[in-house]
Amino acid sequence: MHKKKVSESRVRLTEIVFPEDTNPYGSLFGGRLVSLMDKAAFLCATRHARKNCVTASMDRLDFLAPIGEGYIVEIEAHINYVAHSSMEIELNVSAEDTLSGKQVEACHAYFTLVALDSAGKPSPVPQLELQGEGEYNRFQAGKKRHQERLKKRAC
Ligand SMILES: CC(C)(COP(=O)(O)OP(=O)(O)OC[C@H]1O[C@@H](n2cnc3c(N)ncnc32)[C@H](O)[C@@H]1OP(=O)(O)O)[C@@H](O)C(=O)NCCC(=O)NCCS
Repeated sequence: MHKKKVSESRVRLTEIVFPEDTNPYGSLFGGRLVSLMDKAAFLCATRHARKNCVTASMDRLDFLAPIGEGYIVEIEAHINYVAHSSMEIELNVSAEDTLSGKQVEACHAYFTLVALDSAGKPSPVPQLELQGEGEYNRFQAGKKRHQERLKKRAC
């Protein structure tokens, strides 16, 4: 299987927060944001694997700032690491005030998605053709987190 570049599967998902997406306090409901992040991770993994993909796990999610009604939410997803059938996708979420254009970091997380074959069994995905020090460092850090997840699963 030929290697693929990180840039080939990068995703940028842009949404606006409508009233039906908010909690009773007028900011984006956390579950709605997680759903959007899962969609971005799914698109990224599917672009890389070109196979059916499912979310196996979501690491700790940090909600760093509330996102108000009417704000623009931008979710950037890229692949950090692949093992055999699993892919670590990193998600960075920013919130943008539509009037001032001011942006803040709103959420960050790592999701693991697994590619499946036609029988629904885990199936290999292309390895990464890393470009630059940043991608190499993210790959190494992703590998460590993958190993930690394996240890936790074994407990
Ligand atoms: C994810 C799933 C396919 C793994 O199946 P499995 O039979 O446990 O597969 P394996 O133990 O052989 O693991 C397959 C790969 O998934 C990874 N994996 C499995 N569970 C994981 C978890 N909880 N977190 C991170 N990675 C996981 C393994 O590390 C392995 O990676 P590798 O092939 O790159 O080495 C299976 O548990 C599943 O279908 N879960 C439901 C997925 C789903 O419906 N998601 C939507 C939620 S609403």
